[in-house]
Amino acid sequence: MKGFITFIFLFPFSLCAYCPNNSTISPPVSPPLHLPPIPKFLDHRLREIYPIIQTFKNLITSDPLNVTSTWVGSDICNYTGFYCGHPPDNKSATALASIDFNGFGLVAPTLDGFINQLPDVAIFHANSNNFSGTIPPELATLPFLYELDLSNNNFSGSFPLRILHMKQLSFLDIRYNFFSGSVPPQLFSKNLDVLFLNNNKFSLKLPENLGSTPALYLSLANNEFSGSIPSSIGKASSTLTEVLLLNNWLTGCLPYELGFLKDLKVFDASDNHLTGPLPRSLGCLGKLELLNLAGNLLYGKVPEVLCALGNLVKLTLSNNYFTEVGRLCGKLIESGVLDLRRNCIRELPDQRSWADCIMFFSEPRSCPRPSTFDIIPCNVTPTSNHTPARPKRISLAYTALVKHRFL
Ligand SMILES: *[C@@H]1O[C@H](CO)[C@@H](O)[C@H](O)[C@H]1NC(C)=O
Ligand SMILES: *[C@@H]1O[C@H](CO)[C@@H](O)[C@H](O)[C@H]1NC(C)=O
Ligand SMILES: *[C@@H]1O[C@H](CO)[C@@H](O)[C@H](O)[C@H]1NC(C)=O
Ligand SMILES: *[C@@H]1O[C@H](CO)[C@@H](O)[C@H](O)[C@H]1NC(C)=O
Ligand SMILES: *[C@@H]1O[C@H](CO)[C@@H](O)[C@H](O)[C@H]1NC(C)=O
Repeated sequence: MKGFITFIFLFPFSLCAYCPNNSTISPPVSPPLHLPPIPKFLDHRLREIYPIIQTFKNLITSDPLNVTSTWVGSDICNYTGFYCGHPPDNKSATALASIDFNGFGLVAPTLDGFINQLPDVAIFHANSNNFSGTIPPELATLPFLYELDLSNNNFSGSFPLRILHMKQLSFLDIRYNFFSGSVPPQLFSKNLDVLFLNNNKFSLKLPENLGSTPALYLSLANNEFSGSIPSSIGKASSTLTEVLLLNNWLTGCLPYELGFLKDLKVFDASDNHLTGPLPRSLGCLGKLELLNLAGNLLYGKVPEVLCALGNLVKLTLSNNYFTEVGRLCGKLIESGVLDLRRNCIRELPDQRSWADCIMFFSEPRSCPRPSTFDIIPCNVTPTSNHTPARPKRISLAYTALVKHRFL
């Protein structure tokens, strides 16, 4: 501020040095006070990004919460949505460390020229704005950026391939946009903890290397993915905790390798075209709390080993073609954990019509690798005293299905 004050106070003096005596007509010079002030910055890193922020501010066509009215002056660290910190490459410097525009409802035609020009940003969260265009390729050159949340915006085009070059990225959330086309296999070899792609228009097959992902939370729900669930999914056994594949166009049979996911708590592949029996390996998912496979073309007997799982809170298998249920599963129906409505089980209420079931089974149905459906790759000790637990915590992946929820 000191430079600014000096500027205001000194200029009138020097101006008046040029004032004609006894003149009633002022010369039509615009006073220098109309020039933008030259603010004093805490750090040269902030001075360098000041024009970038101001240029972006001018691109914004709608600001319903009036946040950009605080984007004035040199105190960038106090702008609404901007947070400063000491960058890793110089602990005594002050830099723009993170941006949180969640819920601001800003409308701008692009982020190009903005986010990609902020070299010290580590976190960029912009859920529920209306930014358009494609993702600026230079984003990949930002050395510290590790959390990128562009969810619930108006981005379109194919998957932003440059993101694959961001070595330090660990959180990628681009749900609720209009991205389309396939998802590149390299995405699943990136070192991400969180990958949310739900509610876009992604299509084509899920990459074969899906199971290479070290992610804990994976949401691919509400897209147009087709093909089968890659058997490689079992390779993610030491990390994968929540997987949402619901409401796509997935086909084929469930890979028995799902049973290797010993940390899996949530798995939802409802409303696809999956078929075949349930692999008995699902009985190895000791931590499983929520399993939803409703609205598919699954058939056969519901494995008792699955119903014996001690942490199950909800097992939803409605709207399939299951034909048989055992004693343990029967108990879960009674306790409200297992939903088997609209199947083909004679002794249960709320089932499909017999004609519907006969029609379904009139076509020959089989799965590749049929012997794998009986493999149980763990020691199971079925217990009959299942006490339905409450989920231990709120599912992060399910939270990602709520459009305006900030994670
Ligand atoms: C936005 O904030 C500025 C400064 O606080 C104020 O002058 C202006 O009236 C506000 N505009 C709206 C639309 O609220
Ligand atoms: C930060 O901005 C708020 C208004 O947005 C203002 O009241 C406050 O004085 C500012 N703090 C500093 C240190 O400038
Ligand atoms: C670190 O940042 C401070 C403050 O900007 C600066 O004075 C100093 O020269 C920087 N040190 C290095 C090694 O760049
Ligand atoms: C973005 O703009 C469209 C069209 O005006 C609107 O329907 C949509 O709700 C907006 N999205 C957000 C997150 O504000
Ligand atoms: C969303 O993007 C489309 C182009 O893909 C554009 O025509 C439309 O105006 C954008 N909507 C908003 C609210 O910016």
